[in-house]
Amino acid sequence: MADTAAIWKQLADHSRRTLSALFEEDGRLDLLSTRLEWGEGDLAGGIRFDWSKTHLDAKLLALFEQLASASGFAEQRDQLLTGAKINVTEGRAAEHIAQRGVGAEASVEEAAALHLRMKMLVEAIHQGALGEVNHLIHIGIGGSALGPAMAVDALTRDLELVDVHVVSNIDGLALEQAFAACDPPTTMIAVASKTFTTIETMTNADSALKWLADSGVSDPSGRVVALTANPEAAVLWGVDETRILPFPESVGGRYSLWSSIGFPVAIAAGWDEFEAMLAGGQAMDEHFRDTEGRANLPLRAAFADQYYTRIRGCQTRACFAYDERLSLLPDYLQQLEMESNGKRVKTSGDPVEGATAPVTWGGVGTDAQHAVFQLLHQGTHLVPVDFIASIAPGDELNPAHHRILLTNCFAQGAALMAGGNMAEDGKDPARAFPGDRPSATMLCDDLDAATLGALIAFHEHRTFANAVLMGINPFDQFGVELGKKMANDIDTGDVSFDSSTEALLAAAGLK
Ligand code: F6P
Repeated sequence: MADTAAIWKQLADHSRRTLSALFEEDGRLDLLSTRLEWGEGDLAGGIRFDWSKTHLDAKLLALFEQLASASGFAEQRDQLLTGAKINVTEGRAAEHIAQRGVGAEASVEEAAALHLRMKMLVEAIHQGALGEVNHLIHIGIGGSALGPAMAVDALTRDLELVDVHVVSNIDGLALEQAFAACDPPTTMIAVASKTFTTIETMTNADSALKWLADSGVSDPSGRVVALTANPEAAVLWGVDETRILPFPESVGGRYSLWSSIGFPVAIAAGWDEFEAMLAGGQAMDEHFRDTEGRANLPLRAAFADQYYTRIRGCQTRACFAYDERLSLLPDYLQQLEMESNGKRVKTSGDPVEGATAPVTWGGVGTDAQHAVFQLLHQGTHLVPVDFIASIAPGDELNPAHHRILLTNCFAQGAALMAGGNMAEDGKDPARAFPGDRPSATMLCDDLDAATLGALIAFHEHRTFANAVLMGINPFDQFGVELGKKMANDIDTGDVSFDSSTEALLAAAGLK
């Protein structure tokens, strides 16, 4: 196996050419702009993944392909897809892909059976078997909230079968706000927690039950659905077994949208939409499984990510969706990428050799243009940017809206790359744009459920590919534990802290 350090050295030594110079070469689009398509007839869809405005060139692609091979990418992808215990620090598999029908046969069968159970409950609720249900308060946090919130928001702008409120924050204001928008007798509560022990979720769930009881609902527990990998804990907490939708332990929290954690998506958008989202994810899985080297879109994106983070020293990467329906996508990607790849040791336990996950941030276009794009164009940080847009509009207003939206999206990528000077004489430094700033564009035919599924699965695989290239385990998250422990220590009063923390506790009347 080739030495990865030697390949990293060659990557760093590769001569740097500007994006404009790279575009003078023939075949740039063939090299780096690829359309992925799936389905037929009404189910057909596609996304163009255009990475041509990044600094990847034929030489860098070839070196990164060597790096992928030396890092064991094909072997680790195989482990991921066959349900091997790829999450070595926790000794378990990472089988979110099986939820989409790809992977180890037994896991795919188990996922299908659990989905059938979920479908029956969703349809029973829609048919009124549990009485009138107009509202669902979905209580969860992190991966048990961000995916559902984003997908419900993206897929139900036209029609929400049931009014869904996703509540994550332990700050009681968040739950109070949901209560204010719901009518207790027609409200169901979904308690979403992989572990069913997370303090924020369980405290919110207790308060939601009390709200139902205080509002005169006769059997509050009868209005609860549990979405969890720990069904025993849900039973102990008082949820009837018939309303527990389990998912396997091998599905990680931030990868769990495809499991029963996606319940509010199916409730709000309908079962067919949830299934279409799975199908879109599956199309991306098959591409990721069956495509080698630079043609593999998530792997190619990871090549660019690694280039900017490790070779160019970029500390952040931004994602701007030129689509109101994807307003919550940056929040979702933050957890996916930062909780997965924000690590400092490799799978072996040795320290990593370079930077790991950049800070993921972003927003929606065109709003962000009028707020933060100044820094992208003229600031001193180099920030690789992802643009996401849909050719088909999400609105039915004057087509001018969508035309302006898309032209702005494409103009930003072009301007970041080309640069220039806005002064009449072309010489004013304050009006100068250095250009040569990279971006990638994901242009969807339409932002339907399958496309959303494909986009999310693309980012999951991109995150995995980045982890492989860095030699780290993307499936654990021990970094969240110390703060939790300290909060618990404060509660139990066992430990004394530094003088600053002690003074803050005293000032707030907590000690
Ligand atoms: O604290 C981080 C975390 O474990 C995330 O990884 C997870 O998505 C979230 O908390 C919620 O966990 P659970 O679904 O078990 O409540």
